[in-house]
Amino acid sequence: MKSNSYRLDRFISQNSAFKRADTRLLIAQKRILLDGQLAHSAQQKVTQFTHVLLDDQCLQDNQSVYLILNKPQGVVSATKDLQHTTVLDLLEHPQKNELHIVGRLDLNTTGLVLLTNDGAWSRQISLPETKLAKTYEVTVAQPLTAEYIEVFREGIYFAYEGITTQPACLEILSEYNAKLTLTEGKYHQVKRMFGFFQNQVLALHRASVGSLTLTGLKLGQSRVLTAQELSAIEMYM
Ligand code: URA
Repeated sequence: MKSNSYRLDRFISQNSAFKRADTRLLIAQKRILLDGQLAHSAQQKVTQFTHVLLDDQCLQDNQSVYLILNKPQGVVSATKDLQHTTVLDLLEHPQKNELHIVGRLDLNTTGLVLLTNDGAWSRQISLPETKLAKTYEVTVAQPLTAEYIEVFREGIYFAYEGITTQPACLEILSEYNAKLTLTEGKYHQVKRMFGFFQNQVLALHRASVGSLTLTGLKLGQSRVLTAQELSAIEMYM
């Protein structure tokens, strides 16, 4: 995964009284620890989450946080809102006020929302080139037909953005229910795609993002992503 990083010598010059050129001597004198290991090169990469110790002075100590939440209806995908409960209000994590949302859901949409304080991670997940599959369970007002499958696969022109949607996979489960898999996230995308057929979306639930699912999480519940989940999703990046 590509993350925002700086060379160690630049980090040292910006975060201590030492100059960039002093870094090699500090390394030779074994005075810099990166994540508990002695630094070995002035060009080593330091990210926002590298723990940096110079002598006994901590220069940086940020913990990365990655959460998965099962968003209920009526909860807004925002960090602040005067009217509605926000996804942040549902969290109990001590760093919750540092987090941002990766891919918002509409007020009445339920399901999988990711939150993090790692901007590089969320940017990477959201990049269209990453083509991370997101699956939605959809209930609509009018009966579904095989034509939808073809039109969604071909793509629909969104005049506002001047783009055609990426090929999407629709699996019709019953007359009014379907599973839709998208690899992008345009504004109100699912509703607008069914809107092409003048078919109103009555219920929408995001069930998965890449390999991440909501297994074990009731509506309103959240938890930290496991190391296995993180490395599985980072395989896409
Ligand atoms: N598409 C929508 O229309 N709404 C959502 O909440 C998510 C995807």
